[in-house]
Parts: sequence; C-alpha cells; structure tokens
Amino acid sequence: MGIKYNEKKKIFQMNTQHTTYLIGITKEGYIGHIYYGKRLQKEGSSYLLRTEEAPYTPSVNEREKMAFLDFFPFEYPTGGIGDFRESCLDVRGENGSIGCELLFCNGYIEKGKPALIELPASFGTEEEVETLDLVCEDKVLELKVVLSYSVFEECDVITRSVRIENTGTQALKLEKVYSACLDMDNKDFEMVALTGSWARERYIRRNPVQYGKQMVSSARGESSHQEHPFLALVTPNTTQETGEVYAMNFVYSGNFIAQAELNQFGQIRMAMGIHSDYFCWNLKAGESFQAPEVVLTYSAEGLGKMTRQFHDFYRNHLIRSPYQYKKRPILINNWEATYFDFNSDKLLAIAKEAKKAGIEMLVMDDGWFGKRNFDDNSLGDWTVNEEKITSGLLDLVTKVKELGMEFGIWFEPEMVSPDSDLYRKHPDWAIQIPGRRPTMCRMQYVLDLSKPEVVEYAYQCVADILRSAPISYVKWDMNRQLSDIGSSYLGKDSQGELMHRYVLGLYQMQERLVTEFPNLLLENCSGGGARFDAGMLYYSPQIWCSDDTDAIERLRIQEGTALIYPLATMGAHISDCPNHIVGRNTPFETRGHVALAGTFGYELDITKISDKERQMIPEQVEMCHKYQSLMQRGDYYRLASWTEKKPYDCWEVAAKDKTEALVTFVQVLAEPNIHSRVIYLRGLEEDAEYQLEGTEESYTGEELMRCGYLIPSPLSPDKRGDFQSCLYHFLKK
Ligand code: DGJ
Repeated sequence: MGIKYNEKKKIFQMNTQHTTYLIGITKEGYIGHIYYGKRLQKEGSSYLLRTEEAPYTPSVNEREKMAFLDFFPFEYPTGGIGDFRESCLDVRGENGSIGCELLFCNGYIEKGKPALIELPASFGTEEEVETLDLVCEDKVLELKVVLSYSVFEECDVITRSVRIENTGTQALKLEKVYSACLDMDNKDFEMVALTGSWARERYIRRNPVQYGKQMVSSARGESSHQEHPFLALVTPNTTQETGEVYAMNFVYSGNFIAQAELNQFGQIRMAMGIHSDYFCWNLKAGESFQAPEVVLTYSAEGLGKMTRQFHDFYRNHLIRSPYQYKKRPILINNWEATYFDFNSDKLLAIAKEAKKAGIEMLVMDDGWFGKRNFDDNSLGDWTVNEEKITSGLLDLVTKVKELGMEFGIWFEPEMVSPDSDLYRKHPDWAIQIPGRRPTMCRMQYVLDLSKPEVVEYAYQCVADILRSAPISYVKWDMNRQLSDIGSSYLGKDSQGELMHRYVLGLYQMQERLVTEFPNLLLENCSGGGARFDAGMLYYSPQIWCSDDTDAIERLRIQEGTALIYPLATMGAHISDCPNHIVGRNTPFETRGHVALAGTFGYELDITKISDKERQMIPEQVEMCHKYQSLMQRGDYYRLASWTEKKPYDCWEVAAKDKTEALVTFVQVLAEPNIHSRVIYLRGLEEDAEYQLEGTEESYTGEELMRCGYLIPSPLSPDKRGDFQSCLYHFLKK
C-alpha cells in the first residue's frame, strides 16, 4: 500500500499512483517536510531537510537554534519559539504565554480512515485508503498533537487533519489551529485562488507569489461569496495540461485562511486552516480538539488534471448522498417566477404547465411560512401561512404529487427575524454582544447554534414540516454573514469558540436531517453561492451556485466552481429574460446548454414565458435525460475560456470509457470576418473512430485531439449574433 516507514533513515514515504510525499524526522524529533511531487520510483532520503547547513546543526550546537527554527521545513510549525513564519498552532499556557515546540513520539500506519468527530470528512475502504498518524508532543505544555495523513492512492490525493489533546493539568487556550502546511522551495510559484462577490462567486484569479504573505480568507462565519477555501500554487506558465500544481481545499464551511508566504530564503509556506480571527478554544485537562480536513493534491500535468483529481475524489470519497449518481429530478423553482407573491393556486398553475413540459419537481421557495410577504419578518416561525397555502401544505403537496411531480421546499433554519414570534420569545437566541444592537443584514439575525436548545428547535422546525407531508427535496438557505460575535450561552472565557461551534451546530443539524430522511435530496445555498464548499458536499450532493442565473455570467462562475467541484454539484437553472440580475437577453437554448453543465432546472414562471420558449422545454428536458449520467460521471476538460479574453467558451465531458464526449461551445460575442475555430478535444481513444451525432462526419480520436475539430463561425446560419451556443456529441463507432 501507499505508506512506508524507513526506520534507519527515519523517513515516512507516502506514495499515490503518480505522487510521493516524504516526511523526515530529525535526530531531535523535529518533523520535517522533505518532498511532495511527482512519484519517486525509489526510496527518498532526507538531505532536503538541510540539517547539516550552518549556522546551526541541532544536535551539535544550541547557539543558533533560532536560525534553524526559522528555516527548517516543518510539517506543522508552531508559534512562539523562534519560527517567525506563519505558525499553524498557537497555544497559550496557564501562565499566559504563547509557545509550543512539537517533537516526534510515534508513527502509526493503519488501513482505512477513521471518521472525524463532529466534522465532515472524506472516507474510503481499507483497500482504498491508508492513514498515517504522527504523534508528537510538547512536554512543557503536556500537549499531544496527532498529525493525520490519509493516502488515497488511486486518486492522487492525501488528506490532512490534526487532533490536539491536553494530556496534562493546565487549562490551555488554542489561539490558532490550522490543518495543513507545506514548506517548499519556491519554484517561482503563482497563486491560483477563487474570489468574487455576491452574484460573482468564484472567479479564477491568478497572481505571482510576492515576498511576504498573501492569502484568501473568510472571517464571515461561512466560506463566503468573496473568497474561497481553496489555494493552488502553480509553476509559471501552467496551463490546463502542463505545469506543476500543488492544491489545497478545505472540507469546512466556516472561517478559513489559505495562505502562501514567501520568506527571506526563497522558501514558500503554504498553509490552510480555521481562521484565527475571532477564534480561541479552551482546551481543559483531558480535552481534545479536532481540526477539519484539508484535501491535498499534486498534478504534474497542469490544472486540468488537478480538476479531475478533485472531481473523482469528491464523487467517490466525500459526497454520501444516494443521489450522487442517481438521476436528479428536473425541478422548477418559483423564486424568480414569483418572489414572495404566490399562493397555492399560482404554484399549482406553474406545476401543471411544468408537468406538461416534462419537468419533474416543484420547489416552493421563500415566503410560505409565518406572515412572510417580504424579507423583513417571520424567519424562525416555521408554520405554514394558510392565507397563501390555502388548504395547507399536505394538500398542496398531495396535489402536486397527483400531477405526477415531486415536491420540494425552502428553509432558512439558521436565522431569526427581529419581527418573529421566535425572537419575541427568545431574543437571547440570536448571536449578539450584550449592550450592543446587533448589525442588521437582510433584516435578520443569526441564531446561536452553539446553544444545544437552539439547534434542537431549528432542527425540529425543519423535521416537523418534512414529517407532515411527502417532501422530496429541501433547499437550505443562509442569507447573511455572522457579525456581533457574542453568545448568551457560552461563558465569557468561551466566546472565542462561537464561530466554530456555530459550524459544528450546523453540521449536527444536517447530519440529523440526512439520517432521519435518507432519501431527501438536500441542496445547500447561501444567498446564492456563499457556502459552496467541500464541507457542505458531505451533506448535500448539490449546492446553489449563484443567484446570478444569467447564462453568460454563469460561464465564469461555473468555470471557477468546476475548477474543483464536480459538475453535478452545481445548482444551475434556466431563468427568464431579461435576466433579473444583469438585464441581459440570451437565447433560451444557450441558457439550457449552460444549465446542463450543472444540476439543470428552471427558475421562471412557465405560465408567462412565450409559447416559443415553452415549446422548447420538452426538448431541453430530453437533452438533460440524455446527458445527465455522462455529466455526473464523466471527465471534465476545459477547452477554452471566455475569461482568458477569448470571445468564446468551451468545455467537454468525456466518458471514462472513452465511448462518447459532449462538447459545449458558447460564442459569447459574435466576431465579424473570421473563419472556423479549432478546438482540441481530450480524453478520447486515439485509434478509435468517432462520429459526430446527427451528421455523417467522422474522425479518429487522434484527429480530434491533435488536429482538432473545426467550429464554424457563425455556429450555423440561424445562430448569428452574441450568446449563441451549440452541443457537439461525439460517439465512438
Ligand atoms: C437566496 C437564494 O439564493 C435564492 O435562490 C432564494 O432562495 C432567496 N434567498 C430567498 O430568500
């Protein structure tokens, strides 16, 4: 299997199919990072730890220990004793000082991978994964730290997490606990990150790594619209197919930091973990703290390979939902159709028309509960508004089911409106600082999920509704970020635990939900795509990608999201035009092609759109049925990117057995006086012959991949102008 220990050399070697990760233990017990990269065919050695380089040789000369600490490539650096780069662990002892030095005690290798207590984490069988636990300790603090590495050989993925145990008698405070670190020599790295805003989530951003620290982070209580818990360091000129990529992604949905630091000696420290802002965890005698998991992957063949490694890994080792590879219902959601202005009749009218067109599920969005006709009230009062849902929820669900459709419902369980019975009864259940009026956002406050009673209440509200009617789908929304970080439940010394305890409370609720309702299709959402992260994928196989449903905006958002996450995880709908966010008009067909790269659904009033568009829906539904399985299982290749100043966008999904490939081409802006464009396909069998469906054209795989396929311009005589798109389906003969 993948992990070996060479006792003589004191080296742990972790091999995956194409990568090797080497950890060396020095004579004194420092745990050093030797190498991560392309697989070594032989055993590695430890010269890269440079322990013999002046001015300090640990076992010989104590005089310049600081010079050593500030240079040594640590697997898990600690703060306060002389490594002045970013630390991963800061512990405050009972005497009030911060200082921690970890020395190696033991290493254990076992088959399989234990679950992480209270946290989402990847999983695998004993045949698929092997785990190395490096146990180290700080004798002064009587602190035990377990660094865990799980090696998924087939996937070229290593996951890392850390457990901290207080084995002594002091009351310790953890002021920073990161989950992973990579100390490497700089290779003129560039940093690839995903940044954005509401309606502009996860744009790909690439910058050279400068001297000092650069990071992406969130201290907003969620992974956020703005920055994403992902970081890749790439060698210069890395493309989809060439160049080295070191990537980290966090399986966590709260505050995070992902940082690259270039130091005085040209070394890079790449680190990821829970953000230390607003964080301080009490670790009393006998207690332990589990830090969330980081997924680490390396590609020597560019960003495209990294992407496919993440996709396969998440599909097979993180997403647990029974819907993972199952056909997902094509839904119609009433949000952009009606906003808050709906009742049972309107919903049933939409459902009837939708059913005729082949749509399979109606989702009732925000506004069905309390007295909610606008966003300024009723969150927390999860009772059906019978003025709108006139004969009750069960009746509505039954009628929708009688039409032959499934029913889905929206919740925002983590929130409370100041104008709600819940807030009037329990004002102390909202996160707030005593004596300070909490900052309002979308006219709502956040419930204090560190408090078990609140978690219980919020969970039962959702579960009671689901118990009351046969509901197949839940959209779990979260429409504001956390501020005024104060809890009436936690004592004054524990306020620094609130942000993490909030996330644990959220995970607890979702775990209960998917356990009590194992067949429920859960879609997470946060004001669009602010909580699209690997942590949430553990509970829900799909996440609403963005409130921006414009097909052209979505190209960029979905390109960034698909850099890490499988296509079938991206909530994507066809909405009405002019688009509600940007006012753009795009062809109905293009909207369908772009949504096909995600979960595929509708978000419009089907009773009001033009006959021409309505008549196109059955064809689109058929298209979705035809390709959904390929999109869920296939290999994704980014062939061209509109964001790289091309006037077009293009991606391909190739079947793993290379029997078919679907290419989506979007002509974003029409260009005058140009010839056809060459697109180089990927993932085909070189010697096989492929026929372009619907034509007599046939090419060898080699031709399509090396010589390329010619995309006409305009795409066809009837597809002139901006925002036109086409699908090309190649089938092996
Ligand atoms: C934000 C979501 O992203 C929307 O789709 C919609 O559900 C609204 N919230 C409802 O308030």
